[in-house]
Amino acid sequence: MRALVVCYSLTGTTRRVARALASELGAELEEIRCPRYRPGLLGALRAGHDSWRGLIPEIEPPANDPAQYELVAVGGPVWAWNACTPVRAYLTRTAARLPAVAFFATAGGAGFERAFATMAALAGRQPAATLALTAEHFKEGKDPAAIAAFAAELRRGRPA
Ligand SMILES: Cc1cc2nc3c(=O)[nH]c(=O)nc-3n(C[C@H](O)[C@H](O)[C@H](O)COP(=O)(O)O)c2cc1C
Repeated sequence: MRALVVCYSLTGTTRRVARALASELGAELEEIRCPRYRPGLLGALRAGHDSWRGLIPEIEPPANDPAQYELVAVGGPVWAWNACTPVRAYLTRTAARLPAVAFFATAGGAGFERAFATMAALAGRQPAATLALTAEHFKEGKDPAAIAAFAAELRRGRPA
């Protein structure tokens, strides 16, 4: 299956998940670049505020054409109980060219349901599968098994 893993990460957690997922799937990895946010208190405040009010920020042009893949897995952190705004920008920009999609997200613990619903609405399609990883998963070392199970689910459901 030709797959692309696309992620946004402000502080590195979702990037680590995306790398592991890409490795499990034998997929290419692309990072969403959004100069509006930088790690640190001010960046976090801006990110939370933007997410809450639904701002779609400028992102750099996507490096890959999603239409060239059978599956695109898109992930990012939850911000203010919703999908982070760079992921929203990516999905808005690429919706017309997306093949089958899967979503993943990381968060302290809350907001996944709304984040995935927003992502599905922007992508214009429901995901084949979703993966929600909390701080507790990472603390307890449960993330590698959860990522492997998610990848296995995606491989099983791969388009013919
Ligand atoms: C602006 C901002 C808003 C956040 N909002 C939530 C939230 O609503 N629910 C939650 O459980 N965690 C929230 N978090 C925590 C992040 O989702 C979590 O730390 C995530 O794993 C960070 O991913 P990253 O390192 O890839 O940026 C928030 C973090 C930031 C910076």
